[in-house]
Amino acid sequence: MTPDFKNAPVQPGKNGGLAGARFWIRTFGCQMNVYDADRLRTVLRHLGMNEAEDADVTIFLTCSVREKAEQKILSELGRFREAYDRGEVPLVAVLGCMAQRVGEQLVKRYPWVRVVAGPRHLGMVPQAIEQARGDGRARFLLDDDPHSLYDLETAPLARANAFKAFICVAYGCDRFCTYCIVPHVRGRFQSRKMEEILSEVRALAESGAVEVTLLGQNVDAYGSDLSPAVPFADLLEATSCISGIKRVRFATSHPADFSPQIVDAMARNEKICRAVNLPVQSGSDRILQKMNRGYDTAQYLEIVSLLRKKIPGVAITSDLIVGFPGETQDDFERSVELLERVRFDLVHTAAYSPREGTPAARSDEQLDARVKASRLNAVNALQSRIAREINKTYVGGIYEILIDGTAPKGEGLLQGRTSSDKVVLVRGPREWIGRFAVARKQRASHRGMGWGGGWYRIPGTRTN
Ligand code: SAM
Ligand code: SF4
Ligand code: F3S
Repeated sequence: MTPDFKNAPVQPGKNGGLAGARFWIRTFGCQMNVYDADRLRTVLRHLGMNEAEDADVTIFLTCSVREKAEQKILSELGRFREAYDRGEVPLVAVLGCMAQRVGEQLVKRYPWVRVVAGPRHLGMVPQAIEQARGDGRARFLLDDDPHSLYDLETAPLARANAFKAFICVAYGCDRFCTYCIVPHVRGRFQSRKMEEILSEVRALAESGAVEVTLLGQNVDAYGSDLSPAVPFADLLEATSCISGIKRVRFATSHPADFSPQIVDAMARNEKICRAVNLPVQSGSDRILQKMNRGYDTAQYLEIVSLLRKKIPGVAITSDLIVGFPGETQDDFERSVELLERVRFDLVHTAAYSPREGTPAARSDEQLDARVKASRLNAVNALQSRIAREINKTYVGGIYEILIDGTAPKGEGLLQGRTSSDKVVLVRGPREWIGRFAVARKQRASHRGMGWGGGWYRIPGTRTN
């Protein structure tokens, strides 16, 4: 039976209930965690809890992708020590990827942590919080079976932005890139049934979303494990047909799963946004093989040229790791050349971080931290220059934007995005939020690693 996404199905349990208690969610990591946080918030509010920073229950949705990500969360968890020593501590729940990886050790090190749950056990979290509040004992929702799934069966109705929503269409990952912890903590790849996804998208549209982003670790492999198989392009088209949905995005695409059908669907359907995140990870075929990526640079470049040929104005973004074990200066220069050749709109760069339990972490060819840092600086400087140059080419052009909120910095300005996901700042009244508008780019800038920022003026607006 297709779950009813309008109503969170979790019912209050026996241990005094959660009604009236205050909770606060801290979210780290990727969009998948934002989605999980919004769904958990939806359920906890449904159970009568109130959101407040000064909370009875503090919930961490954690990330394990690099050591730095974990260190940041561990230091935040440590901040409860003083209050704990005074006997005032709120109950802390640690959920998600780092919870699955570190497990029971978290409670040994931080005794104020009472719930530890991996990303495939979120459906059991509300009850575990309630029980831990009742008897003060720690609960562990960690399973060794990477196929098990106890999900929160609700749409993210209580989300930060009413007009935009994420939706997970496939759980886990089976690719086992040799550097990556994700398959070890998120479990096996499992596509959700198309009807279930569409039903959730309908609930999102009814709650005000005009833009949805379909999420998966390799989202373009969606449906390959279903019987009968469903092409990802079909899911994109079906999502775009749902009443109220004006834009469909998707992330993250794996180059080995990216099919020409996806390119064709994007080319013929304007609602599918002109933005593709296609992580390349390295420009050296030798390193791509060591990473177990399943493609070489020639195959990658073929997808890029197909996208650019069939979808004028498409923005292509990527992820790149520098300093993978055994990466020589020559391998690194292949990555630099690839950045110069493709000229991505944005690149998420990272220095390789060994993750315990993955094959690359066991390699005896680890690079010195200084070499990794200097390579990282070099690619960041190069990519900033490229992004600045790309953004200059937008000046004078006219673009349709969806205004989705107020600008984070800049009084009286609103923020929107083009179909190609370029950030746009416009002057206008708050009533424009949630509407489409037509804007002309006045000047170029670049933000951080090069997302296309810039100032635009609105010559006219469309209110659909
Ligand atoms: N599924 C996506 C793909 O195939 O590229 C990526 C998902 S991963 C959560 C996000 C990014 O984190 C990766 O693209 C990679 O660049 C980076 N990453 C993953 N493991 C890493 C590691 N051990 N060290 C540095 N960066 C890493
Ligand atoms: Fe990690 Fe590779 Fe899976 Fe992406 S495809 S989540 S990098 S194992
Ligand atoms: Fe981090 Fe887990 Fe996402 S490791 S990047 S939160 S899938």
